[in-house]
Amino acid sequence: MYILHFSDFHLFAGDKESAHPRADTVAAVERVLADAASLTPQPDLVLISGDLTDCGTAEDYALARRMLARFAAPVLVVPGNHDRRTAMRGAFEDLVLFEEGQFLNFDVTYQGIRVIGLDTIIPGAVAGELCRDRLDWLSERLADDAARAKATSGVTFLMLHHPPFDLASPSWDAMTLLKGREEFTRLVTGFKGHLRLLTGHVHRPLITTHAGHFAAIAGSPSFQYAPGLGWTGEPPLSSEPYVYWLHHVTGPGQVIVSPRMIDLAAG
Ligand SMILES: [Fe+2]
Repeated sequence: MYILHFSDFHLFAGDKESAHPRADTVAAVERVLADAASLTPQPDLVLISGDLTDCGTAEDYALARRMLARFAAPVLVVPGNHDRRTAMRGAFEDLVLFEEGQFLNFDVTYQGIRVIGLDTIIPGAVAGELCRDRLDWLSERLADDAARAKATSGVTFLMLHHPPFDLASPSWDAMTLLKGREEFTRLVTGFKGHLRLLTGHVHRPLITTHAGHFAAIAGSPSFQYAPGLGWTGEPPLSSEPYVYWLHHVTGPGQVIVSPRMIDLAAG
């Protein structure tokens, strides 16, 4: 089983909303998706950990759907701080079994791989949170032994946009998952299975552990920040090759993670 993990495409069909996305973001994402679609074997799942669009308009999501249509595999998305819940749900509800209600949470299992999507956004804010309702939902999902048993690969991916941990960088640590972090950490610490955390938001590929679980942050083909943590202000942008992650589930609870690099600056 091959799982692609992307994040932060920041696609825009009209004008962009934020300052940093490269003007040719659509072309850059197109190159990335064409590369991913050319892989052998083909991916079994495509996961995108938020900021799929820059402005969250219906036109942005229609563009994203057209670009993602090349994959035969299921495509699962969670919202980032640049997404808009109503438009995103409307565009993806035929692909993603979102829970009812305002949040774009889901808990699905495909071919023995379980993916829990967790909505961490605060509309209008850059930082993320988990409110009481979302923590209760996550607690219930993580305690569901029947759902865990359906993950016959032994692997559960938990995807959320905002990293639930510090990055040793004051500028970043003010805009990750802030409220609800301690209880989130307690909940995942108590999970009985093999959990792997997938996030975005940082615009730089990083790997770490959190509460004993593997955690990967996917980069952004739209713009990425320079290496080196410890920034007290906004870090400079970087033109290093873009990276997305290939998670290869090779056996019960066994996953090999490979970076796929594309030099988008080379044209
Ligand atoms: Fe982003």
